[in-house]
Order: sequence, then C-alpha cells, then structure tokens
Amino acid sequence: MSDANSNTGSGSGASSANGLANGSANGPAGPVLNEPGNGSGEPIVRARGLTVGFGPKTIHEHLDLDIYRGEVLGVVGGSGTGKSVLLRTLVGLLPRRAGTIEMFGTDIDSASTEQRLAVERRWGILFQQGALFSSLTVKQNVQVPMREHMRLDSRLMDELALLKLAMVGLAADAADKFPAELSGGMIKRAALARALALDPDLVFLDEPTSGLDPIGAADFDDLISKLRDTLGLTVFMVTHDLDSLFSICDRIAALGNKHIMVAGDLKTVMQYPDPWIKEYFHGKRARGATEGRAGGA
Ligand SMILES: Nc1ncnc2c1ncn2[C@@H]1O[C@H](COP(=O)(O)OP(=O)(O)OP(=O)(O)O)[C@@H](O)[C@H]1O
Ligand SMILES: [Mg+2]
Repeated sequence: MSDANSNTGSGSGASSANGLANGSANGPAGPVLNEPGNGSGEPIVRARGLTVGFGPKTIHEHLDLDIYRGEVLGVVGGSGTGKSVLLRTLVGLLPRRAGTIEMFGTDIDSASTEQRLAVERRWGILFQQGALFSSLTVKQNVQVPMREHMRLDSRLMDELALLKLAMVGLAADAADKFPAELSGGMIKRAALARALALDPDLVFLDEPTSGLDPIGAADFDDLISKLRDTLGLTVFMVTHDLDSLFSICDRIAALGNKHIMVAGDLKTVMQYPDPWIKEYFHGKRARGATEGRAGGA
C-alpha cells in the first residue's frame, strides 16, 4: 500500500516515430488503428517507441500510443502484459529505455522542471490497489496532491476535499474515516477523489472496478462516465471488466507481444486476429456481456 502519488523520475527519451501508431513487426498481420473515439481528435498524450524493461526482461518494445482529448480509452491485455507498467511509465514513475512521451504538447524529456510540474498537475492517478495511505484519513488522502502542488490554507483544503468527496458520491462523514474503515467501493471512490484533487484534465485509472460486485462496478462506471461528461475529463482506464469496456469506453487499446497490438473502436479490436483477443472477447465469459452490444463483431 502507500503508493505515493508523486510523479518523479522520467526516463530518457530516444527514438520517435511520427504519425499514428501502426503495426509492429511482432504482432499478427492486420491493420492497427489508433483513431479517436468520441474525443476531439486531438491527442493530448503521444507515446512513441517506448521500450521498458526490468533487468534482462523487456516488458514493452517500440510501443506507440495516443490518448485523445475527451475520450475514455480502455486498456486491455492479459495479466502481466504490462498494463500497469505502461500507466506508470506514462506518468514518469518508471524509467524508459527508449521512446518519447509528449503530454499536452510538452515533450517530457526536454521540459524544464517547471514545465514538467505544470504538466503533472494536469493528471490524476488511481492505482490498481486503491493505494490510499492507511495512516491518513480519507480527507487527508485527498489532500496529499494538494499539499504537494498547491499552497492553500487548511480551511480551504478541507472545503476542497469535501467537494471532491461529494463529486465521487461519498458522504461528508466518510472524510474522517481511515481506509480500513471503508468498504471496497468506498476505497475506490476515495482514491478517485484523490485523483481528482487537482482538477485534472486527464485521469489514469488502473482497474477501477476490480473487486467490486457487478452493481458496484456498474455504479462506478456511471460515475466515471458522468465525470467525463461534466468535467470534460480524458480517461485512460486499464480494465479487465468487459462491461466497462462496452458501456463507457470510446476506444480500446489491446496490449500484447510487448506493444499495442491494436487500438480502435470495439468492433475493430474485437476483429483483430490475435488468440488472446479472440478468447477475451469471444470466449465463454465474454458471450453474455457482448451479446447484442457490438453489432455482432
Ligand atoms: N518494479 C518492477 N520490477 C520488476 N518487474 C516488474 C516491476 N513492475 C512490474 N514488473 C513486471 O512487469 C510485468 C508487467 O507487470 P504489470 O503489473 O504491468 O502487469 P499487468 O498487465 O498490469 O497485469 P495485471 O493484469 O495482473 O495487473 C510483470 O511480469 C511484472 O512482474
Ligand atoms: Mg496491473
């Protein structure tokens, strides 16, 4: 636990590829689309040629990805394919061996410290395990990014924290509780409130509905969708949850073979000729969720 919300340690950039992401030598044949969903068509994140690894193990190789303004991008892939690693790399928590990342038009590697801090203030993160600090109350957790990035008096910070908690549907009496006193769904909401602390343009969510019952998960999807619409958020969401993919994602990016195999609308991704995608979207578990929702793709 205690996954600090500080974004430090950008890696070194090297290669860069122009234009939209396209196929890599490793993937099966077929078109790889990376086109906007319901976003404005303007990428606010452009990752090119990312290579990330640990020791002798390479997790990502020449990975390209765009995130478009206003979209909910669902990121899928088998366990261990590097979805969380990708998220952490994009926000600078893991170093890159190669590749460039442009955020809101700023190349992260050539940015000054000030520029980088300004960019970091524009995103919020919900880590896979909720990652609230157990020794802090919910209110104090929400205030962690505020303390890091803003100079505010404590009364204003309290008001802001309560506002964020209300935005995610948590009652004011949750503010002074500790994480251990919350249900799983409340922890997710509190973590989302913390991700929203700095009024971000972009939120990175790692498995936001995992561990929730179907009703709790559907409520959380509704919340994300509502926040996207009311706040104009862009959402990068790692998920295993087919219902989330079908109900709120504008575009899906599938990770496999160390890169984004395909990114596009649901139909495009479902038709991509890869064994994992086939099993995931067309297997027994998927059938119930997909029926009647993806135009029979
Ligand atoms: N800090 C680290 N040091 C060494 N290896 C790591 C580290 N973080 C991740 N890995 C390895 O990188 C690979 C990808 O991990 P990652 O957590 O991104 O998978 P994932 O796609 O998010 O899986 P899941 O769906 O289970 O959450 C795994 O083999 C993991 O063991
Ligand atoms: Mg993960």
